[in-house]
Amino acid sequence: MTRHFLDITDLSGDELRLVLDLAQRSDLPRPLEGRGVALIFEKPSNRTRHSMEMAVVQLGGHPVYTRGEEVGFDVCEPVEDVTRVMAGYHGLLAARVFRHEIVVRMAACSTVPVVNMLSDWSHPLQALADVLTMQQVHGDLAGHTVAYVGDWNNVSRSLAEACVMLGAHVVLGCPPGYDAADAELERIAGLGSGSVRQVHRAVEAVAGATAVHTDTWTSMGQEAEKAERVKVFEGFGVTESLMAAAAPGAGFYHCMPAYRGYEVAAAVIDGPQSHVIAQAHNRLHAARGVLAFVMGVR
Ligand code: CP
Ligand code: NVA
Repeated sequence: MTRHFLDITDLSGDELRLVLDLAQRSDLPRPLEGRGVALIFEKPSNRTRHSMEMAVVQLGGHPVYTRGEEVGFDVCEPVEDVTRVMAGYHGLLAARVFRHEIVVRMAACSTVPVVNMLSDWSHPLQALADVLTMQQVHGDLAGHTVAYVGDWNNVSRSLAEACVMLGAHVVLGCPPGYDAADAELERIAGLGSGSVRQVHRAVEAVAGATAVHTDTWTSMGQEAEKAERVKVFEGFGVTESLMAAAAPGAGFYHCMPAYRGYEVAAAVIDGPQSHVIAQAHNRLHAARGVLAFVMGVR
């Protein structure tokens, strides 16, 4: 059966742990030897492009970076035509898309693994790096409180899923209207031995947290809403005083790109509690682990 990685929930709890182990192995085989990998980007990227290109190289493959407009999903050609053609050239296809539906349709007709490199719904490659970094800093995440302050979005959804699957207790601090629906909280709570709950004040969200995460208030594609969002999210920035309300020595995490003075104060992201550079570097290891996994390495 062809394995795809569109969401963290495409993995069982045991498989998620295996991928995190593979990510840290230095003796992986080269399952992409002599194969190409299409990396299709409808949106810009620094971390995802570079970490995926290098992960492909480290697994023996050849990355082919492709801009979204060059394939024109459903504009130049149907998603299914692009996918079926490319699956004949490559050992794996990966895409960063505006609409999650596109990677779902790719996976439905692809004969090789499809990997989601960020959609409007989820960012599972990021969540792998997030939990890998937290494990390296704090140890086994089971029983830890992980706070996410800010916008309920692709990054926070994948992060919450991974944390609950690994037994962590997630507390979301999102403003009303930019928060998770009750049905989603229920769905995520059912994924593993951890838990998830939501509050509407940042200071309440971080109480007792060993890790504090945030993300931009304005995701790619939402630029027209920026002024409105900056107003709505007032009070949801991660400042030094907010970090002081978390557990002593709590770590700060951000998927980046980060906007200092908005979702995070410069003193926090550039300060001693910040793990953002290790988190960004772990994108490479996480990508290598999951690419090896979908290519059949166990
Ligand atoms: N965190 C992340 O996905 O960054 P890029 O947009 O630079 O890939
Ligand atoms: N939520 C952000 C993440 C960027 C890596 C976005 O979708 O733009």
